[in-house]
Amino acid sequence: MKPSNFKYQLLFICSIGLFSATFAQNQPTSLKEAFKNDFLVGTALGAEHILEKDAKANQLIKKEFNAITPENHMKSMNIHPEWNKYDFYLGDKFVEYGQKNNMYVVGHTLVWHSQLPRFVGKIKSADSLKLFMTDHINTVAGRYAGKINSWDVVNEAIEDDGTFRKSIFYNLLGEDFIKMAFDLAAKADPKAELYYNDYNNEQPAKRKATIEMIKKLKASGTKIDGVGIQGHWSINSLNTKNIEDAIIEYAALGLKVAFTELDLTVLPNPWDLKGADVNQNFENSPKMNPYPKELPDSVQTTLAQKYEELFKVFLKHQDKIDRITFWGVADNHSWLNGWPVRGRTNYPLLFDRNFEPKKAYNSVMNLKKNNPNL
Ligand code: G3I
Repeated sequence: MKPSNFKYQLLFICSIGLFSATFAQNQPTSLKEAFKNDFLVGTALGAEHILEKDAKANQLIKKEFNAITPENHMKSMNIHPEWNKYDFYLGDKFVEYGQKNNMYVVGHTLVWHSQLPRFVGKIKSADSLKLFMTDHINTVAGRYAGKINSWDVVNEAIEDDGTFRKSIFYNLLGEDFIKMAFDLAAKADPKAELYYNDYNNEQPAKRKATIEMIKKLKASGTKIDGVGIQGHWSINSLNTKNIEDAIIEYAALGLKVAFTELDLTVLPNPWDLKGADVNQNFENSPKMNPYPKELPDSVQTTLAQKYEELFKVFLKHQDKIDRITFWGVADNHSWLNGWPVRGRTNYPLLFDRNFEPKKAYNSVMNLKKNNPNL
């Protein structure tokens, strides 16, 4: 080889090397970095996360996410176990965790028919229920005023067919309980963004009823800032058309849209359950728990494709979406291992049981790596 040829070849190789190194350096290395110009990326925390019991989980949460939601410990059953007794231990730690790590902190949830303290179940009069709601919202939202960025004020008030859920709140107070909850929350924490949060509210009937309910709230002067679409979906029935329509229609009301509890089950759902009504439970069997040891490659790939499909829609409408929160950190800690069938092994999130990124993580990250302007 002539020395001059060798020189050019060397120069070419060095330029490629330099280009790749610079390209690699500019690539995002976490979800929160990849989507920093699009939306927040959050996760739900359990007590073990908040108390930083597991170093790997802790490292992962801090690296990947910039928003947190308490999976269970701010629900009224846990934070307000008796009429005159509150337990703020984990709530305080949770808020501290978020502040210490500069995270967007979500409060979940002020008024929900499920996970109510036992004493609420015994309430028989509208006045007593109002007293409970007033005391609960003033005390909880008041305690964290200025420290919680947004509250899921009312959770799951509408049924899939668009009628109001016949909860204790609706039965004793009618639909006014929703307005009452939002007004109390706005007073207790004027700075927090106030959300209505539900599952299946991307589907047409429930979406229509939700929009009507929100229009009424707004017309009556009530402050409501956003709609949370929980996003408990399945790889077998993901409907991105409904999701896209819902983003557009909720945003048209002047509201922020957040995906608040995202996960994609890979397991069969008895009766093709799509929602998240926690009161339903079914028998376990090998047929219902097909991957007890590991997830086959083919299903891993389908999960990755479904997440990619979903994030393409999210990116297309990033101007309307404030936050995407996953309902859990890694597959080992997901409510879907216990619902709607107890004791199954599910794989619904982006990180596996060793806290390693899955193919689905790469498919979502690649959307930004390959198209930084998307
Ligand atoms: O803490 C107790 C433990 O002491 C006891 O031994 C054990 C026995 O069953 O139960 C433990 O409590 C469980 C709790 O999760 C904490 O793990 C409850 O039984 C169980 O019902 C509860 O499930 C939670 C469910 O909401 C009901 O509150 C799930 O973790 C949580 O992921 C799920 O989250 C909901 C959202 O808040 C609202 N949208 C739907 C979503 C999924 O259902």
